Amino acid sequence: MKGGVNCDRKVRLGIIGSGKGSNCAAIADACASGVIPAEVSIIISDVEGAGILDRARERELLGIFLPPGKFRTKLDDDAERLYIKILQDAQVDWVVLAGFMRILKGEFLRAFAQRVVNIHPALLPSFPGLEAWKQALDYGVKHTGVTVHFVDQGIDTGPIIAQETVPILPNDTAASLHVRIQEAERRIYPAALAALVRGEITVQGRQTIWRKE
Ligand code: GRF
Repeated sequence: MKGGVNCDRKVRLGIIGSGKGSNCAAIADACASGVIPAEVSIIISDVEGAGILDRARERELLGIFLPPGKFRTKLDDDAERLYIKILQDAQVDWVVLAGFMRILKGEFLRAFAQRVVNIHPALLPSFPGLEAWKQALDYGVKHTGVTVHFVDQGIDTGPIIAQETVPILPNDTAASLHVRIQEAERRIYPAALAALVRGEITVQGRQTIWRKE
């Protein structure tokens, strides 16, 4: 068993996002090159025409728009059930959130218990929520960064898997800082996923423990 799944087939990732898909592209490319020993079996977006679906198409990966339903910040119950079913039908082992702008609730998280991960553009627990790089800049911290974490029912509160620090430079704007944050994301997310897929990370309460097998 690797990463808690059967070794007879490749580990499967399902990526969900709402935006341009730079993290999705980095993860898909890391799978294609073998850096992550897994395959991307499906890419889902709640935004019709989102860039992340173009990233899927460019790589000849399955990418689908799934309407989120009537709410702005979460999936409605029908949509949530459909997301779960489609991910299960795709036999996804890990659900990888990559710029997904909605909160996932209990039913989804129970369906993929401890199998949902996210990237957040700040050093959690500082600056959870939206536009975290801008929050950090406005607050005046000298360093911010990125965090890969498990997803629980809170907002950006699950156990932390990996973090990378990004310095805030004297002339930084929100845009220039975001560029460097996203560069860090494209390093740290594939590396963390590779370790997860290899079964090198275990969770004990809030602690995640990295070990080489
Ligand atoms: C990333 O900055 C991520 O940290 C945040 O949303 C952004 C998604 O960017 N959660 P992309 O769609 O992966 O380019």
